[in-house]
Amino acid sequence: MTDTSRTPASPPTLAVIGAGSVGATIAYAALVRGTARHVVLHDVNAAKVEAEVLDLNHGLAFTPMGQVEGSDDVEVCRGARVVVVTAGAKQQPGQNRMELAESTLNLTRTLMPRLVEVAPDATYVMVTNPVDVVTTAALKVTGLPANQLFGSGTVLDSSRLRHAIATRLGVAVTSVHANVVGEHGDTEFPLWSSASVGGVPLLEWDALHGGLDETTREEIAEDVMRSAYRIIAGKGATNYAVGLAVCRIVESVLRAEHAVLPVSTWLDDYRGISDVSLSVPTVVDHRGAGERLLVPMTDEEIGLLRRSADSIRATARRFGF
Ligand code: 2OP
Repeated sequence: MTDTSRTPASPPTLAVIGAGSVGATIAYAALVRGTARHVVLHDVNAAKVEAEVLDLNHGLAFTPMGQVEGSDDVEVCRGARVVVVTAGAKQQPGQNRMELAESTLNLTRTLMPRLVEVAPDATYVMVTNPVDVVTTAALKVTGLPANQLFGSGTVLDSSRLRHAIATRLGVAVTSVHANVVGEHGDTEFPLWSSASVGGVPLLEWDALHGGLDETTREEIAEDVMRSAYRIIAGKGATNYAVGLAVCRIVESVLRAEHAVLPVSTWLDDYRGISDVSLSVPTVVDHRGAGERLLVPMTDEEIGLLRRSADSIRATARRFGF
């Protein structure tokens, strides 16, 4: 007799670790966007994961074909193609991401080896904050190659930047090409010198069309860096934009897109920076994080990138990584 139970016949395409607001929203965004056909959610809180999976399943009639399961047992992730890690301490209003390092890194030490045991060939996308330190630690704990494990980095911050520029200039966000690089956190900064709007170099925009002078650019950079603080103060967490940003990264892996995204990767002599994970524009494909692009930078931008690297490295070292 044919077994008609819903036991999955194939390993999950996407495993999301942590069923908090970020993990659950990533799963939701993945279903709505059609990022992955088979999504699993894992959390140590069985009641929470069961409730989120039930809620997600009840929406499947309105999404592209999908299947969602969940468990408090990490086994549910066995054979996953991409594993997204969101588990960790929650940032409180006024707290910065680096202040989460201690509790999150303890979790990284215990959780990551178990995940790699059940999904040794997966591409790992770390999302938990402080994401650059967590990525550094996870690489060291697992021994995975640097292409196979990387962090969501400043993909989200770059979309915040693009939105801020687009709003000020009255153009579509998709017509803005601009990256925030460095730490996903307080030392991040926009690469103004390589940004462009509809093919117009951003630094030439003000002279040609007006509305984007140096003061405005500084305000935008500060607003982008402080976005998460504002959102956390207002609603306790950020979830929607990060959910979409992470899905964009996962899609580039699953579809071998070779999209250029500012993910957080281990750097080995990138503009003289080594031994640290941080975000620079990187080609993302089915093998994970590929080439780190040598985007032209001014001396000032290189200085800021080094400062950001030093800050991340110092925190990682403080916790033995
Ligand atoms: C964010 O930037 C808190 O890292 C999270 O939304």
